[in-house]
Amino acid sequence: MKKLVSLLLVLAIAVTLVACGGSKPAETQAPAAPAATEAPAATEAPAAAEAKTYNVGVAIYQYNDNFMTLYRQEIENYFKTLETDTVKYNVTMVDGKNDMGEQTNQIDTFITQGMDVIICNLVQTSSAEVIIDKVVAAGIPLVLINREPLGDNGDESYPGIINNPTVCYVGADARQSGTYQGEIVRDLPNHGDINGDGVVSYVMVVGDPENPDAQYRTEYSVKALTDAGIEVKELVKNVGNWDQTKGQEIVAAALAQYADQIEVVFCNNDAMALGAAAAIEAAGRKVGEDIYLLGVDALDECQEMVQKGTMTGTVLNDHIGQSHTAVDVAIKALNGEAIDNYYWVDYVKVTK
Ligand code: GAL
Repeated sequence: MKKLVSLLLVLAIAVTLVACGGSKPAETQAPAAPAATEAPAATEAPAAAEAKTYNVGVAIYQYNDNFMTLYRQEIENYFKTLETDTVKYNVTMVDGKNDMGEQTNQIDTFITQGMDVIICNLVQTSSAEVIIDKVVAAGIPLVLINREPLGDNGDESYPGIINNPTVCYVGADARQSGTYQGEIVRDLPNHGDINGDGVVSYVMVVGDPENPDAQYRTEYSVKALTDAGIEVKELVKNVGNWDQTKGQEIVAAALAQYADQIEVVFCNNDAMALGAAAAIEAAGRKVGEDIYLLGVDALDECQEMVQKGTMTGTVLNDHIGQSHTAVDVAIKALNGEAIDNYYWVDYVKVTK
């Protein structure tokens, strides 16, 4: 029995020794080779933050427009200044070439491309509903600029805008610019009545009859005079489509027909006023002496002319304020933040 116990004891010791031999102490183990892709934590470079790129579609009614050229360039510049290491804006801008069919196709393409936000300067405000419906159905926020679709009452109540929380309009109230043009004439010592016959005889060069900027400037410039009790007479009213050459043709023809009966030339914008100035000079007339000339936009060359006296006055159409507001709102919208329906930027009277 004693022998059996001893034998069992020897066996138990032997088994224990074999078992211990199976697990060698750690320090004698060969270090495991590090996985090829696994850099040691201490030497790991900080992970570069992924930049998020937002796609922005900008549709301009027509590139060939002095004011909208300044405006669209500032949209691009301003987006660039807002970029950071982590946020980029990929801006695709397109020229509608004053053709609503072309612009509709461009908006369709923006939708197919999955733009994060669309900024649109409509070719025709009468097509606003079609464009709004498409963009809203695609779930893309829409910022309308420069050409305001008017509600039935001619006020800020366009159904497609007020009924859609992701649609807004950014612009300036064209009534204000028209009123300022009229007030500049009203405030002249002779109130625009150069020949002293008690009536201000004027020529009106209209931008584009479908555009509220043109409608309101045409109406409110004259209204500022009649509201002040000044009698007026319209000699010529003609459409120049915001274009310098057309403005020149219209005013040259008016001067040929009415000569010194014309006391004031109102142009709905500065481009047409530049054309008018050339026609006035060619006719041997002198602004500030025997005729007055008004524009809107305050293009640099027109501000210089106002300084020199070769233009009576203009009204600053703040393309910086408007483009920055449009971009700020577009960014809010693409971030899913709530936006208002209307954003307004003031005009400023420009006289010597
Ligand atoms: C007006 C501007 C014009 C022309 C037009 C285009 O606000 O005064 O010069 O750019 O917009 O819609």
